[in-house]
Amino acid sequence: MKDLIRELIQQALSRLHAEGVLADLPAVNIVIEHSKDKKHGDFASNIALVLAKPARLAPRVLAEKLLAALPADEQVSQVEIAGPGFLNFYQNTEFQATRLDAVLADPKLGVRKSGCVQRVVIDISSPNLAKEMHVGHLRSTLIGDAVGRVLEFLGDTVIRQNHVGDWGTQFGMLLAYMEEKRSGDSEQAELADLEEFYRAAKKRFDESPEFANRARELVVALQAGDADCLRLWQRFKDISLAHCQAVYDRLGVALGMQDVMGESAYNDDLPKVIQALDEKGLLIESDGARCVFMGEFKTAEGQPLPLIVQKQGGGYLYATTDLAACRYRAHVLGGNRLLYFVDQRQALHFQMVFACARLAGFVPAQTELEFMGFGTMNGEDGRPFKTRSGGTVKLTDLLDEAESRALALVQQKNPELPEGQLHLIARAVGIGAVKYADLSRQRSSDYSFSFERMLSFEGNTAPYLLYAYARIASLFARAGLSLHQQLPGQIRLISEEEQALAGALLKFSEVLNKVAERGMPHLLCSYLYDLAGLFSSFYENCPVLGADDQTVRQSRLQLTALSGRTLAQGLNLLGLQTLERM
Ligand code: ARG
Repeated sequence: MKDLIRELIQQALSRLHAEGVLADLPAVNIVIEHSKDKKHGDFASNIALVLAKPARLAPRVLAEKLLAALPADEQVSQVEIAGPGFLNFYQNTEFQATRLDAVLADPKLGVRKSGCVQRVVIDISSPNLAKEMHVGHLRSTLIGDAVGRVLEFLGDTVIRQNHVGDWGTQFGMLLAYMEEKRSGDSEQAELADLEEFYRAAKKRFDESPEFANRARELVVALQAGDADCLRLWQRFKDISLAHCQAVYDRLGVALGMQDVMGESAYNDDLPKVIQALDEKGLLIESDGARCVFMGEFKTAEGQPLPLIVQKQGGGYLYATTDLAACRYRAHVLGGNRLLYFVDQRQALHFQMVFACARLAGFVPAQTELEFMGFGTMNGEDGRPFKTRSGGTVKLTDLLDEAESRALALVQQKNPELPEGQLHLIARAVGIGAVKYADLSRQRSSDYSFSFERMLSFEGNTAPYLLYAYARIASLFARAGLSLHQQLPGQIRLISEEEQALAGALLKFSEVLNKVAERGMPHLLCSYLYDLAGLFSSFYENCPVLGADDQTVRQSRLQLTALSGRTLAQGLNLLGLQTLERM
């Protein structure tokens, strides 16, 4: 409700400004307060008092102008001016109650996409297969997964593209090592630990010039399509992808082998990309390399910054593949919105690729291209996340630790539960905590990873929200009801707590639309956290099962059911598994 009123005031201010009634005013925080005395409405704003001076108007005069310019909204029944120039708002609780009844009867909980449905292609996860997945790939995987789910819930068609790094010079080194090993012990055993395999190959590469030569030969042979090399490479890729899939399954993200469309898949397109750029007259040779210069990109010194698409000697680059991928996603997959969940540090690369793809006509003008960069996951010391010995942290180790810490917590809380059930709960809590900690941070900022914080039952955490849901589920179980059954009666919003909860429940659709537009799941996390808090105060102040009046009891049960369903749906869209008890 507060947000809605803020928005209405903002619109009134813009209107008065556009009509020339108000000059440029300083941007101020529009403060909305709950009215202490319900005789004066439900909410009040002092905006006319704050802006009177810069607007050179008496506060009451400004208030009157604002009141006249305020757009009507069904959720506000009345607005009046009070005292020196306060605006008092009355919430239209009857209208809200009727809407809530409709939302409760709707399997989509009143959620509708604002705007047309689209075909959205998402660049997600995309690890380099030469190494095992590490924490750096966690963010792309989780954020991309959550946004993908939200888009699908809104009715969009989502096509996931796991643009794995499966092509390039490091594969020569790995193939050379595989070849060397093949004569000796079993290759399967060696590849069980990709990290170790990579390290050993790198060591051989650095210490032996013959080995390094062989590695270079193998890259050339691989790229030329040599059958033996391809077979070896395919084996490596299969094993590496199986490692990734195990992580995806464990995380419960909606990614499978069908979503893999790696760099190698564009190999045949690369000469065509160069040719198309050439035909458009976009290629300029610089130091033997072929480049595209676009006026808007400059180096720190103000020199033109090239997008290199072909190296001296003919090799292609990361950018060339991304140009091919843009074209494929727009034309073959038919995406009208292309999203990229990639490390923020690649922002410039994508800006340049997007600009070049547009210049070259690789994507239609109306296709939306959006880079959804994310910040770095740091350790608690604020430095990049590393193991104690300074190595990269493997995802599997991280998830193991999250689960075992969660198990200790859950055991403490429910010593009576059987072992098997404890493990299931610990898995949902542990994995959920890692995911939620990542998703709840503003996407583009760095964040520091802390097991202790993410596993706390207080604050904006997975355990807190999972528990909030489990509490509602157990209330229903106690009442012998199901959260999903139809309930008799109607919703009535009497107390302030019921009204506040109602306002939040009616915002679900708007929040999901924002998550979809901006690619920012943390907005959903904050929403669910607020909702759980509002539900808590409702639950503490308004007896549900203990209500004396039958109609009040029915209304409160419905509010509780809707809160539970909204929490569960929201957590599900974030990719968290909810629990009926914990
Ligand atoms: N493989 C790259 C890395 O690990 C990320 C790829 C992102 N996607 C893309 N289309 N370039 O840094």
